[in-house]
Amino acid sequence: MNKSHKVTFIKTGESIDIVEGDSIVTSSNKQGLDLPYSCMQGMCTTCVAKIRKGDFKYIEEPDPDTLSKQEIAEKSVLLCIATPLTDLLVELNEE
Ligand code: FES
Repeated sequence: MNKSHKVTFIKTGESIDIVEGDSIVTSSNKQGLDLPYSCMQGMCTTCVAKIRKGDFKYIEEPDPDTLSKQEIAEKSVLLCIATPLTDLLVELNEE
């Protein structure tokens, strides 16, 4: 069985457990959150957020053009195809 990690969203203060290997968007929304998404394939950036603490990995590699090098350096992440490797602190984008 895969481990689960605590994922906390900074602005809302909500905190949920996500099993390693599960999409952060899918798992969060199944647990009653309302994270924005569209393509669910790492192509549209609707789900982009910043990781403030912790490590994640991509379940499938995002399209290389989706995020700029600068965004990646700033720890932007496409939550729809990302899964936690440790507990995470996530900052969602302002609308
Ligand atoms: S929902 Fe499109 S990149 Fe995540």
